[in-house]
Formats: sequence, structure tokens, C-alpha cells
Amino acid sequence: MPRAGSGFLAFLFNPLNSPAWLLERFQGADVVGFDPDADRVRVAARVAGRRASIKSGSAPDIPAVSQPADLVIMIDIVHYLNDDALRLTFKNLHDRLKSGRQLIIRASIPPTRQTPWVWWLENFKLKVNQTPSYYRSVETLRAMLVETDFIVDQTKPSGANGELVWLIVTKVNASEKS
Ligand SMILES: C[S@@+](CC[C@H](N)C(=O)[O-])C[C@H]1O[C@@H](n2cnc3c(N)ncnc32)[C@H](O)[C@@H]1O
Repeated sequence: MPRAGSGFLAFLFNPLNSPAWLLERFQGADVVGFDPDADRVRVAARVAGRRASIKSGSAPDIPAVSQPADLVIMIDIVHYLNDDALRLTFKNLHDRLKSGRQLIIRASIPPTRQTPWVWWLENFKLKVNQTPSYYRSVETLRAMLVETDFIVDQTKPSGANGELVWLIVTKVNASEKS
């Protein structure tokens, strides 16, 4: 993980979740958070105050910034994007990230439990809101990331039921891949 310092820039999807942690961990960092939901943008901007720039934006488009990012955090987003949109999002993030720096993803994985109530409830909400969802296995996500010249350094479960997974990913350039 790169150390925070002057000029450290982090991109944050779903900015209601983690600006406070990021700003604490990387003191002095510039944090750019974005989300398509106007209410979430308004609340996240209020919570972050002047310590982060919270914008309206929707992947695969990534807000323009004046320098490449040191870190990207993408929490609970990938299942909102179809394959084309997710590939383009990874490509756009690869273009915006410094080489050797990390993309951290938390992804919802299709459950293997017999009665995944929380997952059913989340899907029910998505259906009611007519929001399509695209759940993928860790292997599928890994393959899409590798296609885009990322290396998946680690995958780790988030929580006990195995339905949320962290992927810690590093940008490489095509020539550096073994
Ligand atoms: C509902 S949250 C998932 C729940 C999450 N665990 C939480 O605590 O907020 C997913 C977020 O993804 C955002 N989102 C949906 N489609 C997106 C896209 N194409 N680009 C960026 N963010 C998106 C939603 O607006 C929302 O803020």
C-alpha cells in the first residue's frame, strides 16, 4: 500500500462508505468520490466536508482529474455493471491509475448457501427498482482484471458467509506481465 503524502490521490466509488477511513489512513490525501445517486452524493459531500471532493458520476465514466491516482476503492459496485461496462470501467481505471498502484474491490459473489436471506432481500430491492444485476464469481472477476493488465494479488472473504469478497489488485503495464 503506498504511503500517503502530498499529491496522493484516491478515487472512491460509493462514497458514503469510506471517505472517513481513507482520510484517516492517508492524511493529506486528495479524495475524489463519485456516485450516480444525487442523494448519496449530497449526504456524502456533507459528511466529508472540505476534506474530499464528492461528485456525481457513473461508471464506466470516471471523473476527470489532473493527475493519475494512487489508489482506487470500489465497494459493492461491480454487480451493477454488465460485462461491457465493467470491462470499460477496468480499462478506464487502468488508464487513470499510476503503474504499480492498487485497485481495491469488494464484490458480491453468488451465494452457495441454501437460504441466503440477505442476498434474496437485496435482489428483491433491485428487482422492485428495476435495477439489473450481474453477479460474478471471483474467477470471472479475476479473468476480466487480468485481461485489462491488472494482477490480482489477493482475494479475501469479507464477513463469514463468503458472499462478499475483497480483491486486492495492482496495475501493471502489458510489458511487465509474466
Ligand atoms: C446500494 S450501494 C450497495 C450497498 C452498499 N453496501 C452500501 O452500504 O451503500 C451501491 C452503490 O453503487 C452505486 N452505483 C450504482 N451504479 C453505479 C455506477 N454505474 N457507477 C458508480 N456507482 C454506481 C449506487 O448509487 C450506490 O451508491
